[in-house]
Amino acid sequence: MATLWGGRFTKETDQKVFEFNASIGFDKRLFEADVTGSVAHANMLCKVGILTKEEATAIIDGLMSVRDDVIDGKLSIDESFEDIHSFNEAKLIEKIGDTGKKLHTGRSRNDQVALDMRLFTRVQILYTDEALKVLLSVLFDQIRDNTDTYMPGFTHLQKAQPVTLSHHLSAYFEMFRRDRSRLKDLFERMNFCPLGAGALAGTTYPLDREYSAGLMGFYGPTGNSMDSVSDRDYLIEFLSALSIIAMHLSRFSEEIILWNSNEYGFIELDDAYSTGSSIMPQKKNPDIAELVRGKTGRVYGALMALLTTMKGLPLAYNKDMQEDKEFSFDAMDTVLNCIELFTGMLSTVKYNKDVMARSAVKGFTNATDAADYLVKKGMPFRDAHGVIGSLVLHCLDKGIAIDDMKLSELKTFSDLFEDDIYDAISLKTCVERRETIGAPGSKPMEAAIENYRKYLEEYVIVPDN
Ligand code: ARG
Repeated sequence: MATLWGGRFTKETDQKVFEFNASIGFDKRLFEADVTGSVAHANMLCKVGILTKEEATAIIDGLMSVRDDVIDGKLSIDESFEDIHSFNEAKLIEKIGDTGKKLHTGRSRNDQVALDMRLFTRVQILYTDEALKVLLSVLFDQIRDNTDTYMPGFTHLQKAQPVTLSHHLSAYFEMFRRDRSRLKDLFERMNFCPLGAGALAGTTYPLDREYSAGLMGFYGPTGNSMDSVSDRDYLIEFLSALSIIAMHLSRFSEEIILWNSNEYGFIELDDAYSTGSSIMPQKKNPDIAELVRGKTGRVYGALMALLTTMKGLPLAYNKDMQEDKEFSFDAMDTVLNCIELFTGMLSTVKYNKDVMARSAVKGFTNATDAADYLVKKGMPFRDAHGVIGSLVLHCLDKGIAIDDMKLSELKTFSDLFEDDIYDAISLKTCVERRETIGAPGSKPMEAAIENYRKYLEEYVIVPDN
């Protein structure tokens, strides 16, 4: 049991209390962030004259050597310490002696942990953004290559109107690109440095907070020392963005699962991304999509947990906040994993284009267009709706599509039908006529593809300056 606060106490901490209180079991993931923060703090202490150059150099070299030892496996993060901050400080002092004891001047673990968690989260935001970018590039290729792959569009999971695979996938492109913009947004708000806030009320040392913020690539120091040590909004925002990403992945997974079913047969998943059954030899299961869909729950759980932890906390730091870590780490890992696996699965999917097109024809997705045809020949829309309604009923009865009917038969429903009806209700025409912005016609789709191409080339979460 190694703590940083023995002086005021006359009795040893109870072992169970120590274990309940300790966070090293999970905050060891902040190890590198903690070293980074301490190096910046030492540099700043030197700049303002609190540490001599020699002391700062000894501390920084010592910290780097602790870091190397851990990375090389020469030193393991020992769980007899309360947290990663205690571990790093103790190891530093073991290495360089008493000078190491000067590192914590003008710092509290409250601003230290606030800093470490921000540094860690900041990198996770960038990883998540990068993974989404890869997913978007895979989507982009499939959008570009499938502008004439026709399929039914659904409402209420009933075939509604024809679209293209390109158009359907581009709906997901829009979602994941919004996800990236949410990450950018929260990055902009969170990239400020809490170091120097002390325990809650700043310090009496002449710390240069702008300097340390700059050393670590922050836009500047945070504004209020009490808020600095007790703000976890950025984590809540990230968990919320992760929840939305997980929800999008889950919806997409649900479609993959449906499309991969025997009943739809729209796609076939690659063997590398499917699993078999131990009893039913014919099975090829979409487990990856199901797991991505299923893991959404734990990501939402992390968001709910942290919102609940924070809701009753008085200013400033309270130990409750230590609970910000485990679920957040889990949500960050889970979503990153899901994006990567989903991307692999999507990039290897085989689309059964004929099945998709046939499904659109068989499902009367051109019924609206057949009604519009009659309207263009002079019939009021409400009457046309009625005529096509009874035509569909007739087709259902015979088990055929509108396209299968002879002109003479069509004329028994309305004498406005002419030879040009077949072209007017072909899938190609139905889709091509939909030319408003955002619709599946080739003009708006070409514009969307051009827009996506540019976006993928130009968009970055943090512009270089
Ligand atoms: N393990 C703590 C946390 O994660 C570090 C901060 C400890 N500060 C304190 N005053 N006990 O929040």
